[in-house]
Amino acid sequence: MATSGRSAADFIPPRPTLAKLREAAAHCRGCDLWKGATQTVFGEGPAHARLMLVGEQPGDQEDKAGRPFVGPAGRLLDEGLAAAGLDRRQVYVTNAVKHFKFVRKELTRRRLHKKPTAAEVRACRPWLEWEIRLVKPRVIVALGATAAQALLGAKFRVTEQRGKAIPSEWADPVIATVHPSAVLRAPSEVREGAKREFFEDLKRAASHLESLERRQQGTKAVARAAGRVPRLRREPRLPPKPWTRDPDPRVRQ
Ligand code: URA
Ligand code: SF4
Repeated sequence: MATSGRSAADFIPPRPTLAKLREAAAHCRGCDLWKGATQTVFGEGPAHARLMLVGEQPGDQEDKAGRPFVGPAGRLLDEGLAAAGLDRRQVYVTNAVKHFKFVRKELTRRRLHKKPTAAEVRACRPWLEWEIRLVKPRVIVALGATAAQALLGAKFRVTEQRGKAIPSEWADPVIATVHPSAVLRAPSEVREGAKREFFEDLKRAASHLESLERRQQGTKAVARAAGRVPRLRREPRLPPKPWTRDPDPRVRQ
């Protein structure tokens, strides 16, 4: 929570759920970025996704569509997830900042992405904090320096620590990598390499996820064998509901 000044904290609803947060974020005035943007772009994905991806802020297409990572960076991200054996529909995708910040190019009037300031990231962070608190992902991937620093502190350097599993209060681990837009902007002679390394980091995240799950299943099996956990008849598991706006109705929040 920001310690002084305006922030999204003033707009967090009582007893938040993802649905309530999404609705409240649509009217957020926690900083000035809402003024130039079309709409708030809140996170989306299954309410209890095991993997959360955090980007920087919506881009031009996301601002128009009201959904994160639907433009060129999102397409590269989807490709990387698929290469890592992950299905985007099972991932919760969000951004450190929920409104598009841009400058207009003089001649073409095109809207060009502008990096959010540290104060804007701080102002917007309560939304992200609540998303993490409710979704409780096992692994978080921070895409680029803005997301990585929002989660791991201003001193964090993606160039030095990318791909590493960083234990944190948000998830154990958080893994930082480059932003897919940085891959797309890379000079053509190094772009393929940048893409390969980005995909490698996503694969690392996928294998962390897999080993965490395997460990948890092992622990459960051992506990069951020792009779410590009564074997409950499992409720039929509903398939994850990708892109739904409501939190999982089975979970009291
Ligand atoms: N870049 C981001 O960081 N987030 C988006 O949603 C789109 C592009
Ligand atoms: Fe609120 Fe974040 Fe938008 Fe600023 S960028 S107005 S804090 S939602």
